[in-house]
Amino acid sequence: MSSNQIESVLKENRTFAPPQKFIDNSVLSQADFDALNARAEEDHAGFWGDLARAEIDWQQDFEQALDDSNAPFFKWFVGGKLNVSHNCIDRHLADKADKLAFIWENDAGDEVRRITFQEFHDEVCRFANGLKALGVGKGDRVVIYMPMVPEAVYAMQACARIGAIHSVVFGGFSSEALRDRINDAEAKLLITADGNLRGGKEVPLKSMTDKALDAGCPSIEKSVVLLHGGLDVSMNPDRDISWADVVAGQATECEPEWVDPEHPLFILYTSGSTGKPKGVQHSSGGYLLGAIMTNKWVFDLHADDVYWCTADVGWITGHTYICYGPTAVGVTQIMFEGVPTYPDAGRFWRMVQDHNVTIFYTAPTAIRALMKAGDDIPKDYDLSSLRLLGTVGEPINPEAWMWYRETIGKNNCPIVDTWWQTETGSIMISPLPGQTTLKPGSCTRPLPGIAATIYDEEGNEVTQPNVGGYLVVTKPWPSMLRTVWGDDQRFRDTYFFKFGDRVYIAGDSAQRDDDHYFWILGRIDDVVNVSGHRLGTMEVESALVAHKAVAEAAVVGFPHEVKGEAIMAFVVLKTGYADEEGLDQELRKHVTEQLGALARPEEVRIAEGLPKTRSGKIMRRLLKSIAKGEDITQDTSTLENPAILDQLRG
Ligand code: WT7
Repeated sequence: MSSNQIESVLKENRTFAPPQKFIDNSVLSQADFDALNARAEEDHAGFWGDLARAEIDWQQDFEQALDDSNAPFFKWFVGGKLNVSHNCIDRHLADKADKLAFIWENDAGDEVRRITFQEFHDEVCRFANGLKALGVGKGDRVVIYMPMVPEAVYAMQACARIGAIHSVVFGGFSSEALRDRINDAEAKLLITADGNLRGGKEVPLKSMTDKALDAGCPSIEKSVVLLHGGLDVSMNPDRDISWADVVAGQATECEPEWVDPEHPLFILYTSGSTGKPKGVQHSSGGYLLGAIMTNKWVFDLHADDVYWCTADVGWITGHTYICYGPTAVGVTQIMFEGVPTYPDAGRFWRMVQDHNVTIFYTAPTAIRALMKAGDDIPKDYDLSSLRLLGTVGEPINPEAWMWYRETIGKNNCPIVDTWWQTETGSIMISPLPGQTTLKPGSCTRPLPGIAATIYDEEGNEVTQPNVGGYLVVTKPWPSMLRTVWGDDQRFRDTYFFKFGDRVYIAGDSAQRDDDHYFWILGRIDDVVNVSGHRLGTMEVESALVAHKAVAEAAVVGFPHEVKGEAIMAFVVLKTGYADEEGLDQELRKHVTEQLGALARPEEVRIAEGLPKTRSGKIMRRLLKSIAKGEDITQDTSTLENPAILDQLRG
């Protein structure tokens, strides 16, 4: 990528300072953050070492904060011993035993469970003892394939408690995807449920599991089945055992297994791209520290906050910002089984109102879906408890950001646009809600101790404003992935392929503006080169979404005789707009007006939806094939809505 050719066409210049009340009540002040940044600058490893001592309960103190002698295989907090589950649960019992850890709502919205930290402790210990009785121990892999129920978190925490390594597979994945992950991890145990309702639709987890196991998962010895959804399932007496039987008679105390900080806490497979899934391996000590610090810094947590991260525990966001981070800092959180649009598009807002949610963290795809449903819906609910909003997962279009700010936050809540990845373990670049002046669409600046910057093709730092390049991290950080499970070479080849063993390549392209704010342009392969000019697909998408008729847009490049590459735009219209004659021309003109003729889509295709993975990511590879007129050979098993493909083929 000749990155000096990337042209900035982002023309966002609105800015929003934090509300004074938020500044006044922030846990940490600007002076506190200045001190953190200064300390990190002066002694990177010592900075993290100090935090690790202050924020984690160690069973045995560590001797060395960072061992970087074998880059890119970094080791943090060498010589220490800890247990993650002890840090998330036991240490709160002295003063927070009766505080709610979870408020859970089921899919239909007619059941609420309230779980204190004491109950959380007892359930995790009983299940941990049950796992031990099944012969699961330190280092064994356990695959978890469950709905969004508290037991999913209990299962993860129980693994952490006994030193077993969990690998959560999102409940929306197919049986083939499940089987591949079980086999790659060589898991001994599978934990699942009969099934559940999600958005009113039955998810038959147990029968999918049976399909996966029957197709060949030689490492699996037993499968634990939570009977939750009332589905009719067949239990294989040689293999299947109910959750209730696993915990029956087990004690509510379970001595934690004290592990080395580098002991793998979990493996999480990254989805979406072609090839064998990549098992991102995370550590115990460093990962926990990243989860704790980012929860505190980015979410400004107070003792009485009600925090809600809407992710599924099948994704990294659900690991770090449901299972581990919020529990480690002892905040009350909401957990939700369902989807944002069921029974209607007011579901999130009804739950915010009913539970007095103060901090709300969701994804741009959800925001756009709810925005599409119209402004009248949120107006029916009292959202005044909200004080902080967050987003994660993809660049947020400025229009969606403004809607979130105005219609949900009532112009009164900072929005933290958090950039990070499965691989980074925790948030890397994000506004500090009480300090940072926001710009819609920018994740602003790196957190303390995170050496994120931009490199050009030659590995020089790009210091000029509005020049794009590779988003890299030039110093190790505690919550970074440790390797790709069972494949050190792939770890090197994927993340350290260009600038040496100390420069982590995120795979995103980005640029900074005059204020050193980061703007994510997309994945490296999402940059389109039109007539020698590189355009971030996101910029064109934002322009399209700014049109009154457009709800959502995805843009890809395809080969063009004269221009090298041209742009094809796939567009979903807002409710109330029809695909009228001439609309595609109008949209092409609109993009030209917004961004210049260079960015004008060669073709606009209007459809009812975009092909997305179940995590809401647009499957650009598929769109690229469609744009090129190729047959689709990619794996479409993780697609939410396969029927859309026919419409898009035009
Ligand atoms: C990729 C990582 C991190 C949890 C969810 C996704 C994109 C993520 C942002 C953001 C722009 C973002 C990047 C990144 N991304 N957050 N705030 N602004 N882009 O995890 O599946 O590992 O995906 O998501 O492209 O590389 P993931």
